[in-house]
Amino acid sequence: MKVAQEGPSAIVIAHRGASGYVPGHTIEAYTLAYNQGADFLEPDLVMSKDGALVCSHDLTVTRRSNAARLYPDLVDDQGNIKLMDLELSEIQAIEITDDEGRGSYRLMSFQEFLDLVQRLNAGKNRMVGIIPELKAPGLHRAQGLPMEAKLLARLLEAGHGDHPELVILQGFEQESMRRLGEEQASPFPLVLCLGKNTTPEDLISVAEYCQGIAPHRSAIEDPETGATTDLIDEAHQLGLRVFPYTFLDEEESMRRYFHNHGVDGLFTDFPDIGVSARDNP
Ligand code: G3P
Ligand code: CA
Repeated sequence: MKVAQEGPSAIVIAHRGASGYVPGHTIEAYTLAYNQGADFLEPDLVMSKDGALVCSHDLTVTRRSNAARLYPDLVDDQGNIKLMDLELSEIQAIEITDDEGRGSYRLMSFQEFLDLVQRLNAGKNRMVGIIPELKAPGLHRAQGLPMEAKLLARLLEAGHGDHPELVILQGFEQESMRRLGEEQASPFPLVLCLGKNTTPEDLISVAEYCQGIAPHRSAIEDPETGATTDLIDEAHQLGLRVFPYTFLDEEESMRRYFHNHGVDGLFTDFPDIGVSARDNP
């Protein structure tokens, strides 16, 4: 039985913004994603030494940046600088480039991301949602940097409690997701991110504390044979929404996931192509 939000109600999630076009997690990537029609913007989040949430997929900031030149004393044995070893003001002073070493971009704090979303939603007739992901919350907690309460506080301060349907919280760590739901009483739905080998049996305990899953796309459709699994049907029967990751500029693939498989949304680096795939069955 399919209870998917097929067609226009399934959401296009801009993975790190329109990160297929410009470096992800930047103001440029999120603004472009909004203008391309993304329904939700995704920031991954890490934490600075002084406890600010920062938009970044990686826990380190050495690649494609001038960080090692700015903070040579903080470069570790692997040649990396950990974001949790830097204060927010130090992070904001870093310049990054694209993969070819071109351009000049800045990392964003989560507060700057929320301010941008507020400006985008105020200036146009369309409201965009957000789907933040906590990266390595257990590691941060062990370093004295708990993330869950801070995430909820920032969201509520920014007024997102007035539109809980426009926020989804996600993460790979079950303990952190449980903490958000049970300890922090999140008013926003929770989505557990899962890997390639997710089976329907894995979902039963997830449904106790989450409202959705974000599986690797290959847990739904085998990339070699095209064979499909029962994961979506099983998830829907448990009341879980399904948001697979991550799609590049693959319109035909996204069309299949939206209209044949019946996903509730998907993550893509190319939101404009995702919108076209969804709106043109
Ligand atoms: O959060 C869904 C997807 O973004 C997970 O992959 O590694 O890009 O955060 P990653
Ligand atoms: Ca992510």
